[in-house]
Amino acid sequence: MPRQPPFDQTPVSGPEASPLETLAQHHAAGQQLAADLPEPHLFGQHHPDLSPVGWHLGHCALVEQHLIGERILGEPADASIHALYFPEFSDKRGRSARLPEREALAAWTTATHERTRALLAEPPEPLASHPLMRDDYLAHFLEQHYAQHHETLAYCLSAITASRDDSEVASAPLERLNPCAPARETVTVAAGVYTIGTDHVRGYDNERPAHTVPLDGARLGRNPVSNAEWLAFMVDGGYHTPDYWTQTGDAWRRASAARQPWTWHEVEPGHYLWNGPRGRDALEPSAPVSGVNHHEALAFARWAGARLPHEFEWEAAAVEGHLHGAGTVWEWCGNALAPYPGFQPFPYDGYSMPWFDGRHFVLRGGSRFTEPGLKRPSFRNFFEPHVRHQQAGLRLAWDLTQ
Ligand code: AVJ
Ligand code: FE
Repeated sequence: MPRQPPFDQTPVSGPEASPLETLAQHHAAGQQLAADLPEPHLFGQHHPDLSPVGWHLGHCALVEQHLIGERILGEPADASIHALYFPEFSDKRGRSARLPEREALAAWTTATHERTRALLAEPPEPLASHPLMRDDYLAHFLEQHYAQHHETLAYCLSAITASRDDSEVASAPLERLNPCAPARETVTVAAGVYTIGTDHVRGYDNERPAHTVPLDGARLGRNPVSNAEWLAFMVDGGYHTPDYWTQTGDAWRRASAARQPWTWHEVEPGHYLWNGPRGRDALEPSAPVSGVNHHEALAFARWAGARLPHEFEWEAAAVEGHLHGAGTVWEWCGNALAPYPGFQPFPYDGYSMPWFDGRHFVLRGGSRFTEPGLKRPSFRNFFEPHVRHQQAGLRLAWDLTQ
């Protein structure tokens, strides 16, 4: 399993290649992935929260065509394509059956993408003078959008691994994980006023505008919670002790009967492996735990006598370069996604606005599957509290008075 480069601590960094080159690489990688997958893996839905691999490729092409062709160049929309590939119009359970065949999907997504690149490289009017073209915004947006869906494709492949008893196992030695008490090393965010968010061209609407926020100060774990620390919670009865869970968390615990992170596979009693996109692998003791939802993260924090950080505490510590392991796992924060003061939705209303509903919680950092061009201190990811497939873990936090 290749290890990702460490978190880039510069406030906002673009990819080294131009956004158009990077967009082309994402498209090529997606096509290659699809070409290599057998039909059931390309078109099947492997987890109720995840779409088929093929749907993601069509969705990325539709977003290109919608923003450039339909919205800016005034071309007519294809209602059936909208109904399939815009998530808000398309029932997830019905997507598999409605996808076109392999060749048709590859031909349409490739043609759409090549046209996008040609238009962005030499934009005709009214595209050339459109406000979304300023500073190459649209190329940066489409590139990052593709990159996010790419990460989801890795989750789809992990779901295939998780769903099979006969998934391939990486080469030995697959050592048994031993529990370890939570580390006590912390970093301090001093009380003060901090700049949160960004005005950089790569920032999404929900990261803007940069603004100042007063913080009371906090201590954050120097590292994300590790696999060995998570096992200590399990061995101590974490999944069997209702007191550690919030009321909604306990309802989820009972209904799901979960007893371990989603990414873990129990090969024999007490011996676990990790479900990765390319098969099963050993769980490294010091690597960050992943595959836990917000309910589980809150339960672990309560068990450890801590809390989850607020996303602003996380960002303040990340900007100061204090957080080790940032960018190796998505880290659940304690707060729900909300707009910053002066929020303006773009490039389309549906990108962030529907998720300011109090039911989506923020995650910060990035995982081993996140493209480097998305890892920045201001980046805000968000999921509902029950979702477990997105390579999420946590970092503990304490008030300064604790
Ligand atoms: C914020 C990761 C939940 O994958 O649906 C992709 C990101 N927004 N296309 C998702 C997103 C539009 C989003 N998540
Ligand atoms: Fe999308």
